[in-house]
Amino acid sequence: TTPDTATGTGTAVATAHGAPATASARPWALLAELTHACPLHCGYCSNPLELTRRSRELTTEQWADVMRQAGEFGVVHTHLSGGEPLLRPDLEHIVAAAETAGVYTQLVTSGSGLDEARLTALAGAGLRSVQLSVQHADPRASDRIAGRRSFAAKERAARLVRAAGLPLGLNVVLHRENLDAIDALVELGLSWGVDRIELANVQFYGWGLLNRTALIPTRDQLARARDAVERWRERLSPRTTDSPAEGPELVWVVPDYFDGAAKPCMGGWGAVSLTVTPDGTVLPCPAAASLPDLDPPNIRDRSLAWIWESSTAFGRYRGTDWMADPCRSCSRHAEDFGGCRCQAFALTGDAARTDPACRLSPDHGLIRALTDDQASSGARVTHRAPGRRVP
Ligand code: SF4
Ligand code: FES
Repeated sequence: TTPDTATGTGTAVATAHGAPATASARPWALLAELTHACPLHCGYCSNPLELTRRSRELTTEQWADVMRQAGEFGVVHTHLSGGEPLLRPDLEHIVAAAETAGVYTQLVTSGSGLDEARLTALAGAGLRSVQLSVQHADPRASDRIAGRRSFAAKERAARLVRAAGLPLGLNVVLHRENLDAIDALVELGLSWGVDRIELANVQFYGWGLLNRTALIPTRDQLARARDAVERWRERLSPRTTDSPAEGPELVWVVPDYFDGAAKPCMGGWGAVSLTVTPDGTVLPCPAAASLPDLDPPNIRDRSLAWIWESSTAFGRYRGTDWMADPCRSCSRHAEDFGGCRCQAFALTGDAARTDPACRLSPDHGLIRALTDDQASSGARVTHRAPGRRVP
């Protein structure tokens, strides 16, 4: 799973704006984490340390029913994610169920296991677009970060998707080991003919949180990367002309630890998006399983509509009534929703506190300590693996 601007991810984060945070507003996006199984071992993964076993995954029929309910409830877009969703042999059936329900499908994949026959079957079932992850523009570095040989499969997957005429996005999670490679990453995206390049600064959830000390970049690295992105934006879509953009869309997912501003996580809690995890747990965001007293509902027990409208978990941080100061009296609380609940919990032990990423938070010193360059040197990444004992 990698972060993504539409549902959070990977996508653990989202930056959608503007939806009213009331139960009467319906979700438009669904992150479907079909499996936690994955051939890759990326240390930045936002999946939980306790990965769901395959035997506990929802069945084909249950996922098809999730898609049916989502379509009826007004969801327009689903990210089929994981883990690696291609490891579900029934992925075509799930895609077809979403298509029948009128829900646009995007496959979020590492590319491993995508061959021509599989892509043809998926496209035939109604798959609308593909988001491909890459760990670095240099094949050896990409394989090292992924903890497995995988770059060649990604290259092949990109070729197949282009040949099939499906929209293709490239997602790169940026961290200490690849932030200096922006130029090469954008050039890679251009050579693969992608429509969109998402440069997603690492977010610290799950395995990414475990590996924070090794992944967190330096301020100098970030400044250089920002400059590189600006140069590419200017080159790909010059502001001085009225002509349409020539190159792929370049998306920069902000490094909120460094910006002093809280991100509008998920576009607000229970406001625009929901996540269904491999075992059917339904969450307001992919990382919310980390909140110890949330008691999230499960799609095996309740309908999607009930969960959205009536569950305690979805109501917990919806709107602004739950906020304490400084958020309660802050003019920005309708725009950033007080930041990220999971981050507030991870850093302070209390999900209802102001996100420490905000410079107005009384806990902002915690973030400042973590972004101190000296404090973060020398650590090694623990690659993600099921059942791995972690410190
Ligand atoms: Fe946002 Fe709260 Fe910070 Fe205000 S105090 S900017 S609402 S996180
Ligand atoms: Fe931000 Fe959970 S990841 S609210």
